[in-house]
Amino acid sequence: MERMTTAAIIVAAGAGERAGGSVPKQFAPVGGVPAIAHSYRALASHPAIDRVLVVIGDGHEGLLAAAIGGDVGHVIGGATRRASVRAGLAAIGDAERVLIHDAARPFLRAEVIDRLLAALDTTAGAVPVLPVADTIARREGVLGDVVDRAALVRVQTPQAFRVEAIRDAHARWPDDVEATDDAAVLRASGGVVATVEGDAMLDKITHPADFAAAEARLASRMISRSAGGFDVHRLEAGEELWLGGLLIPHSMGLSGHSDADVALHAITDALLGTIGSGDIGSHFPPSDPQWKGAASDRFLAHAADLVRRDGGVIDFVDLTILCEAPKIGPHRDAMRARIADILGLSVGQVSVKATTTERLGFTGRGEGIAAQAVATVRVPGV
Ligand code: CTP
Ligand code: MG
Repeated sequence: MERMTTAAIIVAAGAGERAGGSVPKQFAPVGGVPAIAHSYRALASHPAIDRVLVVIGDGHEGLLAAAIGGDVGHVIGGATRRASVRAGLAAIGDAERVLIHDAARPFLRAEVIDRLLAALDTTAGAVPVLPVADTIARREGVLGDVVDRAALVRVQTPQAFRVEAIRDAHARWPDDVEATDDAAVLRASGGVVATVEGDAMLDKITHPADFAAAEARLASRMISRSAGGFDVHRLEAGEELWLGGLLIPHSMGLSGHSDADVALHAITDALLGTIGSGDIGSHFPPSDPQWKGAASDRFLAHAADLVRRDGGVIDFVDLTILCEAPKIGPHRDAMRARIADILGLSVGQVSVKATTTERLGFTGRGEGIAAQAVATVRVPGV
């Protein structure tokens, strides 16, 4: 079958009134990053999705840039969710299929997207649904009759549509009537909406207590990963000694293309290792003149960013410096504080150790300094 152009719209223009907080709920942190960053990553990294558009409230450009970074495609939404969806639909150009997703549902697994897109082969719309577990009853002041829950489902997002059909349905929907979701809009125009299996991870953040529930859902799917890093640089006279992010007074310094801070390089490689993202050389090639003399805290901060962009949380970093001189002990606390600062961690999450090599080998002869590091992170599991 010919591949169809597929867009995704994340509606994030709501005020999040029921959730409260200092920023609208979609920009509040879940698992250490703004809620919207989770579903954006899931949609943007899905192989079947060609572009992702975010619909935001007027004046929220800064919040969006801080949440996702870079040039995120976005348009300004409207006073209702339906108006925001319409603004998004008008801005996705010639896409043939669209997924419309609430920013307030952060945890979107690729399998749900796969199921929705597969269903669109035969219908104009598809939604993820889950069975209703609780007893459902009418309330008429006092408790009324129980409703047969076997015939009911909970409807989630993303909702998937043929673009032409959902645009047409939204155009026909009366302006003064609210719609609970886009599937209802499509159905009102005669379109058929398939149901696929939803995911409890997709539950919406609506009230303040939902943040704790979202954190718990996220924690339940995080897995721990550790990786190591190792680096060596040569000691030479006439060089500055940058070590662990500090300028340390010493008779010699480390030479290399950047500032040659072996300690930060080892931690950078350890972090890159936890997400299988190559090594420091592949991100900052020594052949590239822009890294000549570069401060290594930039490399380290970038590696931490990459881990967080993958939804990862850095739990701990352990560094060992191998050298005869200088003595590391007097600098240990400042080094821990500096590394914690670069990584956005607390000092208690950073360990700095040092050892001589008993005057053996290149470190023992004072020809160079070696460093090794272990980083432990948690990343979203499958
Ligand atoms: N939404 C939107 N534009 C609106 C209203 C809502 O894009 N005018 C988005 C929200 O940002 C959210 C999704 O639609 O991602 C679902 O809406 P809801 O959970 O109701 O969010 P809010 O409207 O922001 O919350 P509240 O109703 O509590 O104010
Ligand atoms: Mg609302």
